[in-house]
Amino acid sequence: ANGRALVVAIDGPSGSGKSTISRRLATELDLAYLDTGAMYRAATWWCLRRGVDLTDVDGVAAVVRQMPLVMVTDPAAPRVVCDDVDITEAIRASELSAVVSRVATNLDVRAELGRLQREIIAAEAGRNGIVAEGRDITTVVAPDADVRLLLIADETARLARRAKELHGTADEATVARTRDEVVRRDADDSTVSTFMTAADGVVTVDSSAYGVEETFEAVLSVVEAARAGG
Ligand code: DC
Repeated sequence: ANGRALVVAIDGPSGSGKSTISRRLATELDLAYLDTGAMYRAATWWCLRRGVDLTDVDGVAAVVRQMPLVMVTDPAAPRVVCDDVDITEAIRASELSAVVSRVATNLDVRAELGRLQREIIAAEAGRNGIVAEGRDITTVVAPDADVRLLLIADETARLARRAKELHGTADEATVARTRDEVVRRDADDSTVSTFMTAADGVVTVDSSAYGVEETFEAVLSVVEAARAGG
């Protein structure tokens, strides 16, 4: 319709459920799906493979500019391919998660990946449309998206979800282990993106008291309302 398909931008901190919700939304509405966090993870994987010191700001930026990255945007099977290697699983390793903020807070890296993200979003907007999720999609990468959503959850809920994801259960010990990682990473990441509060025109959905089902319904109704209204 109107020559341009639906673009949905979703931001939020880790453990807010945004990946699960974004992917599900893309599947149900038959849209492409882009996980921009996976691109920062891929950049980190590529830097480690190339042996560049992650504290070398200019070195990291130069290596990332040459990254041969392919994002497969099918929500049924999203894949990340770099230098012909499928790194979809490798980029979730805890060793990589521990250092990804160093690459994600490099402003030259952000400029380069932001450019790539805009390219992918524009290409998919010219086809079926897309759901793109991350930390700065509603504000920097796609501020003109048709629907802009901030998915939040309180710290207790986010830690419990992450602990389950990472360690299988959310008991006292696994939550404590997760706290160090998640709280520090969000603190680092929020030095370059403002994903803890909604920007003007961005709708906030708080999933603290919600399960996946209720969160999805809330997000879907925001999307439907935006579609009906404009
Ligand atoms: O959502 P995630 O844990 O896969 O994100 C990986 C890292 O990339 C994390 O440190 C946050 C950062 N990130 C970012 O800075 N901007 C984005 N648009 C997406 C992720």
